[in-house]
Amino acid sequence: MVSAESALKAITLDLKKYLMKPATRKREVRLSELKEYFSNPEAADKILSSGRDPTIYEYYEFAVEEAAGHLSLGLTTIYPGKVGKEYFMTRGHFHLKPAAEFYYGIRGRGVLLIQSEDGRTEYVELKPGVIGYVPPGWGHRTINTGRGRFIFFFAYPSDAGHDYGIVKEKGFAKMIVDERGKPKVIDNPRYASST
Ligand code: PA5
Ligand code: MN
Repeated sequence: MVSAESALKAITLDLKKYLMKPATRKREVRLSELKEYFSNPEAADKILSSGRDPTIYEYYEFAVEEAAGHLSLGLTTIYPGKVGKEYFMTRGHFHLKPAAEFYYGIRGRGVLLIQSEDGRTEYVELKPGVIGYVPPGWGHRTINTGRGRFIFFFAYPSDAGHDYGIVKEKGFAKMIVDERGKPKVIDNPRYASST
């Protein structure tokens, strides 16, 4: 955590190296950590048993203060790739408080998948210059549907909190898969069987 005063100095996004400075947190998530979030864990095992453990996504985050009224700002990169037919994606979560969030596409192609508490889903196709909005109370996950890195800027209230439990248990109602080289939104069988 840093003081609000330091946030008054410039926060920079390097659009060549895709770095954000300053950042209070940098996190890298590899396949071994995310394996059970994919619909085909056997496909994940096959990649892992070949000796590879690819980075699925990483992010820089600058939380000014985790207190009401402040914002957390960040930059997420999702690498291109698939586990079986499912594209590389973030873990996904709900906020503990009814806090909104927005994403601003910087590079590549992807999808913001959002889901209400009662299981209704919507999605926004993100590309450079497009903003995706997560309403308060909606769960959210981002998916790289392109061939290169998918990079976006995000902002949300610092005291929102993260709940990863529901997503870990049953995933989202929809998933995005590669169907003959194109992204397709389909029902997630694991979600349907758990409700
Ligand atoms: O708050 C957000 O939605 C983003 O900052 C995400 O945390 C980031 O993209 C990583 O996703 P996740 O927190 O689901 O691992
Ligand atoms: Mn969030």
